[in-house]
Amino acid sequence: MENVVSLVNVNKNYVLGKTTVSALQNVSLSVARGDFISIAGPSGSGKTTLLNLIGCVDIATSGQVIINGNDTHDLKDRQLTDLRLNTIGFIFQSFNLVSVLSVFQNVEFPLLLQQKLSAEERKSRVMELLRKVGIENHAKHRPNELSGGQRQRVAIARALVTRPAIILADEPTANLDSKTGETIIDLMKEMNQIEKTTFIFSTHDQRVMSHADTIINIADGRILESYKPGKIKSIKNISPKSKSAKKSRPQSSTKLAKKKI
Ligand SMILES: Nc1ncnc2c1ncn2[C@@H]1O[C@H](COP(=O)(O)OP(=O)(O)OP(=O)(O)O)[C@@H](O)[C@H]1O
Ligand SMILES: [Mg+2]
Repeated sequence: MENVVSLVNVNKNYVLGKTTVSALQNVSLSVARGDFISIAGPSGSGKTTLLNLIGCVDIATSGQVIINGNDTHDLKDRQLTDLRLNTIGFIFQSFNLVSVLSVFQNVEFPLLLQQKLSAEERKSRVMELLRKVGIENHAKHRPNELSGGQRQRVAIARALVTRPAIILADEPTANLDSKTGETIIDLMKEMNQIEKTTFIFSTHDQRVMSHADTIINIADGRILESYKPGKIKSIKNISPKSKSAKKSRPQSSTKLAKKKI
């Protein structure tokens, strides 16, 4: 299947005075078009750094980052801006809606930046998405008149409005209660299926990550494993010890689908 994201031996260091923080180490990763992936890991493990590199918000210290067929190393600032605007949609933890704009205007905003559609085309595109995410009755509201879950619906519509190949969401449910968070992930999943958009989101909430098709576990800047939750892919590599662990704790069966990347 066609890859929309490929990272090859990527390292990212941050230099802080005399010390260097190694935020990502030798990360290689491929994401196929239409995937619905969760990047999971504890605080400081490198989730945001990884999403920022994929989103062309930051550049790798070394290694290759290929987004939708473009090796980002070869692109000039202007080309990176175009790639972000046309290929990638962002959803943020704190929603990042413009408070003085209505719901409709917030979702329309990326289309105005793109300057590709007429006012009429923009209106029909925006209203169609507001319907899909179930917020069409609030089109004229301002963000501060909405609940957190409703705001994140607007942010999802805004991320999808340009029909990007990839949507990146950094802890999109962190400011929501657990139940609303799961509903939002389910909505993202629905949009992933309807629009065939690739979603990559980060979380450290076990319940939220279990809704993903693939979970990529990251710790200390390294990818540890990638597995499909709830599906037993292979039991060949399970040691006798982990087999018995599975008997005593049935929920650990998700771990059986672990696959080294
Ligand atoms: N701009 C920066 N300057 C220096 N160090 C940074 C910078 N951004 C991140 N780091 C460091 O890189 C490492 C990875 O950080 P990152 O923000 O990617 O983790 P995270 O998994 O997103 O954590 P969280 O769950 O808390 O959001 C951490 O050690 C962090 O302190
Ligand atoms: Mg983070």
